[in-house]
Amino acid sequence: MRTDSRRGFATRAIHSGYDPLAHGGALAPPIYQTATFTFPSAEAGAARFAGDDPGYFYSRIANPTLRLLETRVADLEGGTEAIAFASGMGAITATLWTLLRPGDEIVADQTLYGCTYAFLQHGLAAFGIRVRFVDMADSARLEASIGPATRVVYCESPANPNMRLVDLRRAAALCRRSGVRLVVDNTYCTPYLQRPLELGAHVVVHSATKYLNGHGDVTAGVAVCAERELAEQIRLKGLKDMTGAVLSPHDAGLVLRGLKTLPLRMERHCDNAQAVASLLAGHRAVQAVHYPGQPGFAQHDLACKQMRRFGGMVAFELRGGVAAGRRFLNALELVQRAVSLGDAESLAQHPASMTHATYEPEVRRASGISDGLVRFSAGLEDADDLLADVRRALDVADAAAS
Ligand SMILES: Cc1ncc(COP(=O)(O)O)c(C=O)c1O
Repeated sequence: MRTDSRRGFATRAIHSGYDPLAHGGALAPPIYQTATFTFPSAEAGAARFAGDDPGYFYSRIANPTLRLLETRVADLEGGTEAIAFASGMGAITATLWTLLRPGDEIVADQTLYGCTYAFLQHGLAAFGIRVRFVDMADSARLEASIGPATRVVYCESPANPNMRLVDLRRAAALCRRSGVRLVVDNTYCTPYLQRPLELGAHVVVHSATKYLNGHGDVTAGVAVCAERELAEQIRLKGLKDMTGAVLSPHDAGLVLRGLKTLPLRMERHCDNAQAVASLLAGHRAVQAVHYPGQPGFAQHDLACKQMRRFGGMVAFELRGGVAAGRRFLNALELVQRAVSLGDAESLAQHPASMTHATYEPEVRRASGISDGLVRFSAGLEDADDLLADVRRALDVADAAAS
């Protein structure tokens, strides 16, 4: 079944790209758990390798289950073509290895997921690529840092972990004026809440380990491109040759299953995060709450412009700093102490000592990631149970401080 853009998001998340009658009537898409594909003749095999016959030949390049996932995510993101990967880092590294050469520059937001930061700062830089980190929330700074050697601008919005936003329409316009590609990590929002390609970005990358799969049982990634030609380059260079970060067909089947409930889950994640943010904002143990849905959030107006709702992630600082944050984490009973995000279970962690320990401490602080910041991924539990657990843990952290 072809994709049909007149249908709604939830319908496409369930049906896009799949016709059961073309698969023996199987309602659930079959999982093609195979590494290789046989050729009817030597000539047919040669034609596949030459690109004259679109058939499959080896699962590192393409596989029918992965193709369905790619078609569906490309449709939901408003892209032309997507490539599936074994992890979000696979998608990010393959995209950047494809777009950059020694001597090129990449401008990146100063606040990024810790391993993305490490890849740019230590990985790419070691191969002769200059990396400039800037505060992309400030468009003037972004504009000033794009130079003649800049090929790529890279950001997350909201940024992991401090929730700062980048004006994606403005950043895309700047990049297009300068002939530079804008790559946006849309993991926090998913296409249900925000579609960067429609705002002018060239590539969207995802850790599908998070909301797209949504059940904490898979690591996966996706890159979605506005242009088909660039997607082909990422597949043939970044995926096939540079990283080999191939998603297993079984895991692609799990992500496809997760996608069917993405809109329902995202609504609930947003409801629960908004409720947790309001509780935090009213509790005396809390010094600052960072949630785009709070009217006091500095970029609330921008959030209203580019996001459908405000997402399932909340960051906050306690008055008692790092020690209070640890007490809070240790007092949680329902919320799990774990990295990752976007799962049914609510998760909480301490970026400075966990996901963002890859930053040099002084760089991390200068990048707006304070030592006491706590990152909270609101799950799908009943709000009352979630709020009771958070309130009690805040009370414990507060009682020990006073
Ligand atoms: C925003 C963001 N991007 C990328 C990644 C990397 O994804 P993965 O862990 O699937 O490699 C993560 C992981 O936490 C993330 O939070």
